Amino acid sequence: MKNHFTRRRFIVTAGAAASTVLGSSLFKLDTVFAAPYMRRNMGGMTASDPVLVSYRKAIKAMKMLPSSNPLSWDYQAAIHGTLLSGSYTAWNTCEHGTPYFWSWHRMYLYWFERIIRKMSADSSWALPYWDYISASQRHLPAPFQDPSSELYFSNRGLGWNTGAASYAGWQVDPTSGNSFVDYFSGQSGLESNPHDNVHIYMGGAMGNPTTAAADPIFYVHHSNIDRLWNLWLAQGGGRTDPLSTATWKNKSYTFFDENGNPVNMKTCDILRAAEQLNYTYESEPPQVKEYCLEIIRFPIYYLIQEILIHWPGPPVELNQQEVSVPVVNLKEFRQRLAPLAESKTDILLLELDNVEAERPPGVVWEVYLGLPPNAAPNPESPFFIGTLGLFAAGIRSHTHGNFKPAHFSFRANRAILEALRSNQEELRLLFVPSGPLIDGKPSRPKVEAPVRIGTVNLSVGREKPQEGIVPERPPNEPRIEPKIQLKIDPNKPK
Ligand code: C2O
Repeated sequence: MKNHFTRRRFIVTAGAAASTVLGSSLFKLDTVFAAPYMRRNMGGMTASDPVLVSYRKAIKAMKMLPSSNPLSWDYQAAIHGTLLSGSYTAWNTCEHGTPYFWSWHRMYLYWFERIIRKMSADSSWALPYWDYISASQRHLPAPFQDPSSELYFSNRGLGWNTGAASYAGWQVDPTSGNSFVDYFSGQSGLESNPHDNVHIYMGGAMGNPTTAAADPIFYVHHSNIDRLWNLWLAQGGGRTDPLSTATWKNKSYTFFDENGNPVNMKTCDILRAAEQLNYTYESEPPQVKEYCLEIIRFPIYYLIQEILIHWPGPPVELNQQEVSVPVVNLKEFRQRLAPLAESKTDILLLELDNVEAERPPGVVWEVYLGLPPNAAPNPESPFFIGTLGLFAAGIRSHTHGNFKPAHFSFRANRAILEALRSNQEELRLLFVPSGPLIDGKPSRPKVEAPVRIGTVNLSVGREKPQEGIVPERPPNEPRIEPKIQLKIDPNKPK
């Protein structure tokens, strides 16, 4: 692997040189030179690339070990989730829909990567990332489609292993998540899209947290999600990890090192990937350095919300058919909504709470707001506000931990503005079930389990700097300061 090593050094050095020329004051050269591993973009990587050859070699070796051995493939997958019986340290501990989504998965990948290094005997190995956000990488990477390879996994949804299936751009779109300055809203937005969508649209084992990590594609997907954490922070504008939250900083988990020994790790150990964990991502901007011990540089931004309109209708049930719900009477609320929709500081949020299903529905719903009744739903239109997919939170059969219903917040300013312009009498919420693209065309798979939405609210939020210690909030729930609840007449759905 000598020449592999040389090439990596070269890329790292070249990156540092380029930044020096640009003269970025944020850039700390010591970090770049100190981080020996670079997680490479898989775009264009062929099956003979040393990174994939070593990954295969390690998987093969790990599959020979019994599932009780922490270095085995089964054990590593079981740390995320498993159907295997038996209870071993750290099994079924993945975090979803909680403030620890990014941190838990960062630790998980870090130890997994060290184990792959050992099991492949490739000491320079670093986990590559699958950048499906890039238009050229929306199919399953070819080396994972080859049935003779350890990277292949038979239990994937229809079309993925033949190269027929792919993601549409809006199905793997980080724009909404990235737009939030508040950590919890940003993480939760990116967890939903692209993270959950990548899982659910692929289906098969990947579609369920209990089985997902058995598929080798899981880890290169998560390498990309971990990269998005760095990219979210690098946007600046007040974005920061929630360092004023003591439980977040001190949350610790158990994993296994490459010798099979248990190790504890806490959030403070993993904030600076290059410095603390020795890796950077290929072509990422300078990593933002967050420090647990530093006196907190206030302000930290939080999203503060207030319910504007509560839809009093019955729970909404999503199934095979499109569902339309008239959530707001615009004759009554036009005056109130117009200035909010145009505001640069007020964020109108369409919120779905107490969202749940018995089992994984196997489908993601496109969500539209204010679409004129005669118009065809189009995810490229301003009425498209996002996607609703259940991966872990909200699924009753996903057993580890306590059951939590799922929550969704969609930015709605643009859709509401368009709806007001088109002079409709009511603001209609529309759900359309969707599958991946098959041969480039939209598909609509069968809904495996209906979804029930308990609560629909239109809220107004503002991202505000908070001084001092901010009280903890329940996982995955918006910080709501209830004030006025404007009642509207009950509208019957449909
Ligand atoms: Cu813990 Cu992508 O799943």
